[in-house]
Amino acid sequence: MQQRFRKPIKIALAAAMTMAAVGVAAEGVSYRQAADMLYLVMSSDRAVYARKVVQRLTRDEQLLTASEHFEDDSALPLPAQMFRFGAEMAADKTEDFSYSLLSLHPVNRKNGPGTDLEREGLQFVADHPGENFYGEEELGGERYFAAVYPDVAVAEACVNCHNNHKDSPRTDAEVGDVMGGVVIRIPMD
Ligand code: HEC
Repeated sequence: MQQRFRKPIKIALAAAMTMAAVGVAAEGVSYRQAADMLYLVMSSDRAVYARKVVQRLTRDEQLLTASEHFEDDSALPLPAQMFRFGAEMAADKTEDFSYSLLSLHPVNRKNGPGTDLEREGLQFVADHPGENFYGEEELGGERYFAAVYPDVAVAEACVNCHNNHKDSPRTDAEVGDVMGGVVIRIPMD
């Protein structure tokens, strides 16, 4: 008897689960949730590269250096460069979203704000520590959702390198300061 009941129960369960899954799919994910999910992946990858690769091999084991001129120096790329290379590769592959690590005081001029929303978002995250910025903007006749997440100087190394970099417009950054922000942009249909 028990065997007989098990199957219908399993089928009912599977059906309920399928319906739940369809329900989620039909409801969809908001632009904000999608951006938050993308940010979680990219910020986790960035932190893992910084800690498990750069910090371990340069500071802890002193086997390699990390350098902006990593090819000439046979060194590791900086975390910000790794991030930009990933963003550039993703931009070649999809138009569903784009992302970048920007700053109002960029070391690399390419990383300065390019739109009003980027400027507004970067200023907002600098003025409101711990908060993200979400907004919409129109570019070239298309509407975009954009999110800006603060990028904080979590270590002395961040501020030492940035303050002393020959191309840095800012020389007074301190640990804990917001150095810039990750911008994620999603076209809205
Ligand atoms: C050894 C030097 C060095 C260290 C350490 C460093 N950075 Fe950078 N950072 C750079 C360089 C060089 C760039 C430009 C990279 C590029 O070409 O896109 C950059 C880019 C950035 C940008 C994008 C805007 C800009 O300035 O071009 C942010 C934001 C940033 N870094 C924050 C940080 C934070 C936060 C830390 C610490 C967790 C950190 N950086 C550590 C050198 C450094």
